[in-house]
Amino acid sequence: MIVEPNAPLQPHNTFGIVARARTLVRVHGEADVQAVLAHPELGPSPKFVLGGGSNIVLTGDVKATVLKVEVMGKRVVDDGPRSTLVEAGAGENWHELVAWTMEQGLGGMENLALIPGTVGASPVQNIGAYGIELQDRFDSLDAIDLLTGRVFALDATQCAFGYRDSVFKHSPARDSDFGLAGRALILRVRFRLPKPWKPVLGYLDLQRKMAETGIKEPTARQIFDWVCAIRGAKLPDPRQIGNAGSFFKNPTVTPEQCQDIIARDPAIVHYRMPDGTVKLAAGWLIDACGWKGKSVGQAGVYEKQALVLVNRGGATGGEVVTLARAIQTSVYERFGIRLEPEPVVV
Ligand code: EPU
Repeated sequence: MIVEPNAPLQPHNTFGIVARARTLVRVHGEADVQAVLAHPELGPSPKFVLGGGSNIVLTGDVKATVLKVEVMGKRVVDDGPRSTLVEAGAGENWHELVAWTMEQGLGGMENLALIPGTVGASPVQNIGAYGIELQDRFDSLDAIDLLTGRVFALDATQCAFGYRDSVFKHSPARDSDFGLAGRALILRVRFRLPKPWKPVLGYLDLQRKMAETGIKEPTARQIFDWVCAIRGAKLPDPRQIGNAGSFFKNPTVTPEQCQDIIARDPAIVHYRMPDGTVKLAAGWLIDACGWKGKSVGQAGVYEKQALVLVNRGGATGGEVVTLARAIQTSVYERFGIRLEPEPVVV
């Protein structure tokens, strides 16, 4: 077990915010977690599990013991007639896993290319893009209980996936008994890639690519390349401009609420959901309030996609939070809609 006191966290959060962890422990497997739990000082201390740091806003130094998940490995566990089962360590980079499945000739994850973060964070957020959510390819995961050190497995039902939501985002104290936030550290995730492979091309941006290229039956690799190009054109690369992807969830409203907004703003981007509700594009709402390109201190709204907040260089977590609140207020005042942030404010 490697323990780093007073460790810089700037390299470990995609917003690139400067902060420190009082203690950081790199976790390579269950034995490291068990060593932390048995440690006289670290054992009883509060813990904070850190993956790729792509979904957090750090507003100060972290006093809890930071467990930096670095469980590695990618393998095909089972190649059956109806699906292929792939397992990856929670510390693996998400995009590298998707690229690796492409190299193995395994389709199914291509729409999820270039999402920042690690494999272990993917079920927490139930990441999704271009018509596929993690839950559509998820099989099961192994996690370790941070109170008892016991390793356990969860299937999709037990993960309670929702839109950018899972059991890992709920804390047992806040949400009665439900929730594993702060309680579990994800070690490995297994993905089930169905056979035969079927492309998912319903999303408008992909339809445009098909029209542009004239390719009607793209391969998984072609879709992978398209998704990389689409994301590259709209979303900032965290290695160049600090950000945490979409900062707010797309809100859902009733058809009546939507009609009300359409009456005032006919251009509003909205999608009917199978359950009868209507999803609104948060990026459009923020854009309509004139936020694109605006800043609070060094925290800004990305010029090409208003849903993404960026670090223009040296932003503090406080500036990001102030900007986010100002956006929430103006969207509420104009549309009567409360935007819910996606990242966790630490
Ligand atoms: N729009 C604007 N102005 C903007 C931004 C968007 O008018 O500044 C409009 C677009 O023209 C489009 C609509 O809003 O008609 C939706 O935008 P887009 O297709 O870019 O998708 P999104 O709703 O902004 C969601 C996910 C992304 C995911 C994409 C593609 C959420 C919160 N975000 O974004 O996920 O990549 O769809 O599937 O659900 C993430 O979660 O970090 C993320 C990047």
